[in-house]
Amino acid sequence: MFQVITRSPQETLRLGSSLGEKMSAGMVLALNGALGTGKTVLAKGIARGLGVKELVISPTFTLIQEYQGRVPLFHFDFYRLDRAEEVEALGYEEYFLGEGVCLVEWAEKFPFLLPEDHFEICIQQVGQNMQERLLKWRSFSSRYAGLEEVLRQYAVVGH
Ligand SMILES: Nc1ncnc2c1ncn2[C@@H]1O[C@H](COP(=O)(O)OP(=O)(O)OP(=O)(O)O)[C@@H](O)[C@H]1O
Ligand SMILES: [Mg+2]
Repeated sequence: MFQVITRSPQETLRLGSSLGEKMSAGMVLALNGALGTGKTVLAKGIARGLGVKELVISPTFTLIQEYQGRVPLFHFDFYRLDRAEEVEALGYEEYFLGEGVCLVEWAEKFPFLLPEDHFEICIQQVGQNMQERLLKWRSFSSRYAGLEEVLRQYAVVGH
C-alpha cells in the first residue's frame, strides 16, 4: 500500500493544494484520523488548490461550511454529529451528488452516509517528531486516479 509522510503543516498544506488542483465536481473525500492529526490543515490546502480565497476554518460547530472556488467546496465535519439524522436533515445527499467537491472530516463515524464512490485519506501522527504525519489512502473508483497520482508522486519524490 502506498503512503506518504509529511514533515510539517506547510508540507501538508502543499500536498492538499496539489490535490485540490486535481479535484472536480462530484468528488467526495473522506478525511479520517485522530484529533489534531491534520485533517483541517489538509482541507485548507485542498481549498487553496480549488481556488478558494476565503479563510477555511474547521466546521466542527457548524457541521458544514460552503466555499466558492473553481467549483463549490462543501466542508463537513462529523465530529460533533451524534445522530446520522442530523446530517440527513440537511439534505446532505444533494451535496454529495451535486455540483461541488465534498470534504468530510471524521467520515468514519458515519461511513454509511458517504456515497460508495469516494476517496479516503487517513492521517496518523508518527515518529518522535511532533510534526510528522503518515497519510494513507484508498480509492473506491477510477474517478480518483488523478488524486492517487499526486499522492504517489509525492511518495516517490519523498518530500
Ligand atoms: N505534518 C503536519 N501536517 C499537518 N498538521 C501538522 C503537521 N505537523 C504538525 N501539525 C499540527 O497539527 C495540528 C493539526 O490540526 P488540525 O486542526 O488540522 O487537525 P484535525 O485532524 O482537523 O483535528 P480535529 O479532529 O480536531 O478536527 C495543527 O496544529 C498543525 O499545526
Ligand atoms: Mg479538523
